[in-house]
Amino acid sequence: SLSNPLRPVLLAAARSSRLEKTVSGMTLTRKLVDRFVAGDAEPAAVSAVRDILTSGRFVTVDYLGEDTTDPAQATATVDAYLSLLRSYATLSEAAGTQHTLEVSLKLSALGQSLPGDGEKIALANAHRIVTAADEVGAWVTVDAEDHTTTDSTLSIVEELRRDFPTLGTVLQAYLHRTEADCRHFSGSGSRIRLCKGAYKEPADVAFQKPGEVDASYLRCLKVLMEGDGYPMVASHDPTMIDAALELATLTERTAEDFEFQMLYGIRDGEQRRLVAEGNHLRVYVPYGSQWYGYFMRRLAERPANLMFFMRSLASN
Ligand code: FDA
Repeated sequence: SLSNPLRPVLLAAARSSRLEKTVSGMTLTRKLVDRFVAGDAEPAAVSAVRDILTSGRFVTVDYLGEDTTDPAQATATVDAYLSLLRSYATLSEAAGTQHTLEVSLKLSALGQSLPGDGEKIALANAHRIVTAADEVGAWVTVDAEDHTTTDSTLSIVEELRRDFPTLGTVLQAYLHRTEADCRHFSGSGSRIRLCKGAYKEPADVAFQKPGEVDASYLRCLKVLMEGDGYPMVASHDPTMIDAALELATLTERTAEDFEFQMLYGIRDGEQRRLVAEGNHLRVYVPYGSQWYGYFMRRLAERPANLMFFMRSLASN
């Protein structure tokens, strides 16, 4: 949770390429990484997806990578998504007829921060992926990164939504602006994934206290549930989950009209329980070799994960 005193340190470490080399090179890190990441390569991800679908849960797959500084790497990321989407076709039996399959994208992995026309490159790259997803009937949602990218990301999303109205976007409750963004984006046909927010953000743009973030999440959730779009409740927090169930009843939403979402490897039992009770739940499945930033943000969220990691360091 946000009250972890080491959170700022870990989130700063998540951005250090020197630490990335050290941490990635440690043999015992792998075991812990495997708890949160479905594997380095596509076949491992597809096999994880198949298992999740068989358990009645939905999936969204994220090809790991962020802050790309090289156009060739952005193109390689597009290719990884196109290949993954082709393999989605082979899952159609396990997937059934609903939108059980989705991919999640980070625009910074598609070139957003390249100097000059980075935004245009990211838009074109995202457009290729969304077109391919549309052809196989898969949904796409654009991840939210640090606040310096929010305006750029949301304008790219608005551009893409002209051609693909069901394109989803992530909004982060810790940002002061997000309640207004929820109102703006929750129109008919929209899909909004609401999360608390996972980056280290300054006090002038983001709530710092866990209680304030939670209160903002609940306000945003109310806006989304009362809106005309499709809310995606991305949280492992029992308070947020209970609130979503209550708001769904109040706004007369059925299980078809919203969904829960949790990260791969986190609260697996709770994921299965929500599905057993008739709710839709999607698992966010990351794969790929660029797991460092994602992994460090998961450590920052939970002291228990960090302790586990420290112990593996000590015995390394
Ligand atoms: P919180 O962190 O308060 O945790 C509540 C409880 O959940 C904990 O007490 C614990 O029981 C359990 N839990 C939470 N984290 C755990 C962990 N790492 N290991 C084990 N147990 C844990 N962020 C972002 O900035 N941009 C994005 O695009 C996304 N995308 C996204 C998609 C999906 C599907 C999810 C679920 C989350 C994201 N996030 C994200 C991450 C999000 O912002 C947030 O950092 C985490 O979900 C943790 O916040 P919670 O709401 O789970 O509550």
